[in-house]
Amino acid sequence: MEKVLNHIKSNFDSYVNELFDYLKIESISTLDSKKDDMQKCALYLQQKLKDAGMKKTKIFKTKGHSIVYGENLSQKGKPTVLIYGHYDVQPVDPIELWKSPPFKPEVRDGKIYARGANDNKGQNFIHLKTVEAFNKINGELPLNIKFILEGEEEIGSDNLYPFLKEQKELLKCDAVLISDTSMYAAGIPTISYGLRGLTYMELEVIGPNRDLHSGSFGGSVANPINELARIISKLQDENGKIKIPGFYDAVIKATKNEKENIKTLNFSDKKYAKDLGVKELFGEKGYSTLERLWSRPTLDCNGIIGGFTEKGAKTVLPSKASAKISMRLVPNQEPEKIAKLFEKYVKSIAPKNVHVKVTSLHGGFPVVIPIENEVMKIAADAVAKAFKKKAVFTREGGSIPIVVEFAKQLNAPVVLMGFGLDSDDIHSPNEHFRIENLQKGLLSSAYFLNDFANK
Ligand code: BES
Ligand code: ZN
Repeated sequence: MEKVLNHIKSNFDSYVNELFDYLKIESISTLDSKKDDMQKCALYLQQKLKDAGMKKTKIFKTKGHSIVYGENLSQKGKPTVLIYGHYDVQPVDPIELWKSPPFKPEVRDGKIYARGANDNKGQNFIHLKTVEAFNKINGELPLNIKFILEGEEEIGSDNLYPFLKEQKELLKCDAVLISDTSMYAAGIPTISYGLRGLTYMELEVIGPNRDLHSGSFGGSVANPINELARIISKLQDENGKIKIPGFYDAVIKATKNEKENIKTLNFSDKKYAKDLGVKELFGEKGYSTLERLWSRPTLDCNGIIGGFTEKGAKTVLPSKASAKISMRLVPNQEPEKIAKLFEKYVKSIAPKNVHVKVTSLHGGFPVVIPIENEVMKIAADAVAKAFKKKAVFTREGGSIPIVVEFAKQLNAPVVLMGFGLDSDDIHSPNEHFRIENLQKGLLSSAYFLNDFANK
């Protein structure tokens, strides 16, 4: 093990350069124009899996983007870890806000800047390299490894769900290891034990059959933007409570232990507000910020479309307007049920003078993972050794919908060992990943694989 760690340490710089090649591939899953780049990325990963010592690799074509698989199961009698990651990234807009081009990775101030540097290429690259290190130094792995790298996480993992169901035998394992979450704060090793779920809706308000002159017609027909705004304003009250009837029915409250844990983390609302440039925070009354982020559901308007949005003024009463609305869910809320409740409520408050169309775009179940499991302790010890500090347990506000399916279909515990920071600007311009976290992540991964093998 000592040799493996030394090998990793002496290769820190070359790893950064190698990661650059991965980051240069423009694998934006949601854009049709990037289909070839997606496939290029899948092929790139297949080669990386071979380099890492996977004896068998395969690219599974799907209706959407490919799933890349690799395995080395030579360690008879040893446990099997399934490592999951995603090679697809989010779009780059608004491109003009990037200080360096999103697909021309660059190091500034100890951070790698590129789309996907954190989410999720930088993070899944870590495990490719530790596995490779074991293989190079020892000629074998400490345990059995399977990799599954998908290209559709950012668009809802539609094709991974059926794949998991069909390939239960192929993916059978003793634990799933995922690095696609954040650390509590810089320098604080973190294991996450929960993710929120998601229901994503589109709401369209349709008024007159064409755009109208707002002078000639204003005052005679309902304005879809005004009506849309009225509907949105009725979704949540001024205390941050969501007004959809039945919305909170299935919510499981944070336990006493969780609240105690939150207290020990000494979260500072003041610092958080300052970092975000807001005068004060807002959220559901009666809960602390971390409680709201981790164990309470939310509703947010993600985008609103309608009318004249160019520079200057145009007097127009638009014929339609729409909004994209997401709800983050917590156990035991169910995405489809929430979508139905949303639609029913919106229809009930929609005025008769416009036509309202509600569409569900995608969703995912929330998850909470029991921290008592032995593998969670091994993971916490591994990151603690790498960061030389005691690990903390957190829940995440974000979602990785496939995690529940791993737990359900494979009946294996999932370890969320994230090395990102909430300040890394994922999904945003100037996404970055700290080189220090890449390095400590490599050590964490090595400790984990070694310790889980010898448990
Ligand atoms: N890596 C994120 C999830 C995440 C973000 C976890 C922040 C913890 C902290 C993942 O790639 C992601 O963005 N997920 C989407 C899921 C959605 C598209 C179904 C999300 O949370 O919006
Ligand atoms: Zn993401």
